[in-house]
Amino acid sequence: MSERIGVAILGSTGSIGASTLDVLQRHPDRFRVAALTAHRDVEALFRQCLTYEPDVAVLADADAAERLRERLRASGRSVEVLAGVAGLEHAATLPEAAYVMAAIVGAAGLLPTLAAARAGKRVLLANKEALVMAGPLFMAAIRQHGAELLPIDSEHNAVFQCLPPDFAHAGLAAVGVRRILLTGSGGPFRTAPLAQLAEVAPEQACAHPNWSMGRKISVDSATMMNKGLEVIEAHWLFEAPTAAIEVVVHPQSVIHSMVEYQDGSVLAQLGNPDMRTPIAHALAWPRRLASGVAFLDFARLGTLEFQAPDLARFPCLRLAFAALEVGGAAPAVLNAANEMAVQAFLDRRIRFTDIAAVVEHVLEQVSVSAAGDLAAILEGDLEARAVAGRWIAAWALEV
Ligand SMILES: NC(=O)c1ccc[n+]([C@@H]2O[C@H](COP(=O)([O-])OP(=O)(O)OC[C@H]3O[C@@H](n4cnc5c(N)ncnc54)[C@H](OP(=O)(O)O)[C@@H]3O)[C@@H](O)[C@H]2O)c1
Repeated sequence: MSERIGVAILGSTGSIGASTLDVLQRHPDRFRVAALTAHRDVEALFRQCLTYEPDVAVLADADAAERLRERLRASGRSVEVLAGVAGLEHAATLPEAAYVMAAIVGAAGLLPTLAAARAGKRVLLANKEALVMAGPLFMAAIRQHGAELLPIDSEHNAVFQCLPPDFAHAGLAAVGVRRILLTGSGGPFRTAPLAQLAEVAPEQACAHPNWSMGRKISVDSATMMNKGLEVIEAHWLFEAPTAAIEVVVHPQSVIHSMVEYQDGSVLAQLGNPDMRTPIAHALAWPRRLASGVAFLDFARLGTLEFQAPDLARFPCLRLAFAALEVGGAAPAVLNAANEMAVQAFLDRRIRFTDIAAVVEHVLEQVSVSAAGDLAAILEGDLEARAVAGRWIAAWALEV
């Protein structure tokens, strides 16, 4: 039997983490879990440690890590338990793990994901925020350290599958690409009366019509900020000019994205909306692997619809394009403001429609550094959080 590939899963207790473990446990002859990490969910990580027996388990929260250490000791397991960003970076660079699933949500994923790139791993990138914040830096780290970057976002994974293998070396224009068409469902409020959006509750925003996901990305899908972040992600991932990236609303989420070529051909990747498909693709690339996903039944699919996005309904999409246009640390500022606003909405401190207002205010107030180095990015992130925090405190709803 050939040696099994070690996989580190950053964010293993989340939605992508669970889907990754589901795919891995279907192929115990090919993969083993080398490291698991989470923020502070001791119980979930403890259960995963019992099932998957990783070499290392990390909780970003130090107190939670101590509790996990005690639980594992009491159960007689010899898993090394680490804490903090240093622990996450350790898991991301573990020699026993050739593959790293980057599935921490938000800016917290940037440093560990960057560490995986610098360690020359195959990086399975779900944490789009890392690329949004630090696109040029991240792509340079991938190239300089001989790492492999495989997109997990279903849209980018679809585009990757529709591009020829040499696109990264030759460039999109040279391989004949005209446009990248990113599809998005439009989320749960695509047809809701605009006047009702101010009153929607977090539960409604998290009830995505097609995908089951973590709460933050679910809200991002409802505002379509998710699509905006994905435009920025596509820009860096595929070195695509902004003008060559178009968003298409496709409510059924069957076509995960498309690539249009100069000769008029459009290649699309289709499948049921289940993240195990892109995860299995990235684990097996350039081959294929069973994922457990149900196969498409074309006779039962019915109609596939397409629309242009409505920027009045989805101002966050417009703001993301604007931040990409400004460049430098602006996407990091946009991302940080959005993270703060989404959390405040989930905590019922602001309205759904305030999310875009917070992001717009922060983009206007923070003087964005044109530099794209890590210090400028982290500074922009911090300042954006401070400005967003003040806006939220001033306008917080009475609860
Ligand atoms: N879910 C999807 O279908 C989907 C699709 C495409 C892309 N993505 C992207 O994948 C990433 C993960 O999404 P998700 O839906 O899986 O999120 P999720 O369900 O909320 O899970 C987030 C994971 O990150 C961990 N985490 C949170 N804050 C952290 C911190 N400060 N330090 C270390 N770990 C932290 C969480 O640990 P605890 O459990 O301890 O909090 C959890 O393991 C996001 O960037 C998202 O945009 C997700």
